[in-house]
Amino acid sequence: MAKYILLNKIKENLNKKVVLKGWIFNFRSSGSIYFIQFRDGTGKIQIIASKDKIDKESWEKLEQITRETSIEVTGKVYKDERSPHGFEMQAENLKIISIAERYPIGKKSHGIDFLMNNRHLWIRSERQRAILKIRDEIIFAIRKFFKDNDFTLTDSPIITPTAGEETTSLFEVNYFDNPAFLSQTGQLYIEALIYSLGRVYDFGPTFRAEKSKTRRHLTEFWMMDAEAAFVKHEENIEIQEKLIEYIVKQVLKNNKQELKTLKREIEPLKNIKAPFPKITYNKAIKILKNNNQKISWGEDFGAEHETIISNKYDKPVIIEKYPVKAKAFYMKEDPENNQLALADDMLAPEGYGEIIGGSERISDKKTLERKIKEFNIPKKPLKWYIDLRKYGSVPHSGFGLGIERTVAWICGLDHIRETIPFPRLLNRINP
Ligand code: 4AD
Repeated sequence: MAKYILLNKIKENLNKKVVLKGWIFNFRSSGSIYFIQFRDGTGKIQIIASKDKIDKESWEKLEQITRETSIEVTGKVYKDERSPHGFEMQAENLKIISIAERYPIGKKSHGIDFLMNNRHLWIRSERQRAILKIRDEIIFAIRKFFKDNDFTLTDSPIITPTAGEETTSLFEVNYFDNPAFLSQTGQLYIEALIYSLGRVYDFGPTFRAEKSKTRRHLTEFWMMDAEAAFVKHEENIEIQEKLIEYIVKQVLKNNKQELKTLKREIEPLKNIKAPFPKITYNKAIKILKNNNQKISWGEDFGAEHETIISNKYDKPVIIEKYPVKAKAFYMKEDPENNQLALADDMLAPEGYGEIIGGSERISDKKTLERKIKEFNIPKKPLKWYIDLRKYGSVPHSGFGLGIERTVAWICGLDHIRETIPFPRLLNRINP
């Protein structure tokens, strides 16, 4: 009996009779022979079905096949450099699992609305598959990096009683007749966990009701928050640099084929080695003013500002020490200038914008209470967070990495909508 194999195991099974199960993504016939382009999710192969080599019953079924029809096929697999995928199967038997109706996505180019409405089908394409494989590698690299660097994965709640970041982008939910909010970041919760585990990270969906219709914003995106006890601003930045260097290295090593499918230029990625350039917020303002941008001290940067700054560098650039007022309430003030926060953002190169936001946190209870007041934030729901400063408080820092923005940059995509299987955008919740 021939063994069922996945196509990524083909090299171990060359010149053997095997069973493959998957989908026809293209085919042509010339009288007595069919050339079937077949994929199973792990690889692709050309299947040759010739009238004189396949059983009679299977040959008759071939008349019914269409693009996306699912099949089970038995035959010998072998290497053939001339074949589109480097390997071929000579089919001996073919069973149809399910005939596909006329497939709406053709070879001609479709408009983006059509593709987004058919996202459930579009994700089968080679390009979308390549992006999802790289996304998987990025997430795996993040987990491996943290595991190897003494961080423990601790997940944060999705339903929360209060804002984690600014209050303007909250998604409210009805929690048994009380208002609750979808999490914008797990940060505040993992700050509690450093007192149990020292170094921690979370990884999960986060939500922001941002009315931004840009190439960089999703309303539901995945974030990795990391937090570490006894780590100060400078070391916090070092961890971020090492993480990004490691992620890019792993993708370059393990996703050569996918990067090729995406026609991603490799050279700029090979350059991503720590340390990265660092500039202060004040210097960034100077750069923007020299580029005729209207921006005043105290304002946070918009997408176009980020692009101007990041285009000056061929590695990610870190902007540090932002005005306190431009950033979140929990950030520690710079001891050398209390108008500045020990915060940093990392901007990806090639105009991809911010991928990381981080800071050293306030560890002193009185300062935190003062900041909560100055920022006009309700104190009651943050009682537990203030509590952390009462029982063995320590200096600590952390950061959040947006997965989809990282995927967009590493894959070289024009828009964030292709970085997640089913994107949630300002004007899209379907499918
Ligand atoms: O800079 P942000 O807002 O940082 C925080 O939420 C911190 N609490 C994280 C921390 O210190 N633990 O968001 C972090 C990252 C951004 O740099 C960006 O990559 C991504 O999350 N991000 C978005 N990605 C897609 N769509 C959006 N609407 C995003 N908003 C933020």
